[in-house]
Amino acid sequence: PVKIYDNDALASRDVAARIATIIRQKQAEGKPAVLGLATGISPIKVYRELIRLHREEGLSFNNVVTFNLDEYYPIQPDAGQSYVRFMKEQLFDHVDIDMGNVNIPDGRLAEKDVPAFCLAYEQKINSYGGIDVQLLGIGRTGHIGFNEPGSAPNSGTRLVTLNELTRRDASKDFGGKENVPTKAITMGIGTIYKAREIILLAWSGKKAAIIRKAVEGEQTSDVPATYLQGSANVQFVTDTEAAAALT
Ligand code: F6R
Repeated sequence: PVKIYDNDALASRDVAARIATIIRQKQAEGKPAVLGLATGISPIKVYRELIRLHREEGLSFNNVVTFNLDEYYPIQPDAGQSYVRFMKEQLFDHVDIDMGNVNIPDGRLAEKDVPAFCLAYEQKINSYGGIDVQLLGIGRTGHIGFNEPGSAPNSGTRLVTLNELTRRDASKDFGGKENVPTKAITMGIGTIYKAREIILLAWSGKKAAIIRKAVEGEQTSDVPATYLQGSANVQFVTDTEAAAALT
């Protein structure tokens, strides 16, 4: 199902409200709320609204546990382009989350230690009973997380090689494509798929062609986001421009 809004601000407000409802429900039950989070442009207004809810409407993140989708590899957490830095600046520094409850793939690991880290990441998600709500953006390659074309539907958290188009799209952040890491650690399609609720955000005409493929195209590893069609728990949330090519 696709929910189309007049603009991304209205859509982001509804998505943040849904996340806040889950956080509050879990608080009432005395349980952690487990959020799967994305970086990039798409979720920024959702995070801004969550910060507003914290500041103005008493929303507490004291029971919130987060798992980010991905991180470049290799990268230092304090690098300008790291997803640790992004998440702190866009959300964590502005709410009352316990940073001990924040999980982001570690871009500093030696390559030989990555497989064990990835397995532990999956186990840690499971130890909390799985992800309550997973936020996603979509890349122009059809990637979700950094699951590029060719990713298997049952893939788990792992080290992947970034697609050329993805690296070109990231080149502005890194001051040239040659500076963009060639790899990343990402949750798998299978990891994402297990979340109890999945919300994919897409804004602007730049996403129209890939949203059409993701929503209406045949399921194929060429467009990893098409695997989401098989889930009853997915909502595609777009503005009118990103939905413009849907039939
Ligand atoms: C980010 C991520 C990526 C982005 C996608 C869209 O954590 O996993 O899949 O969601 O590349 O990026 P934006 O939102 O910048 O268009």
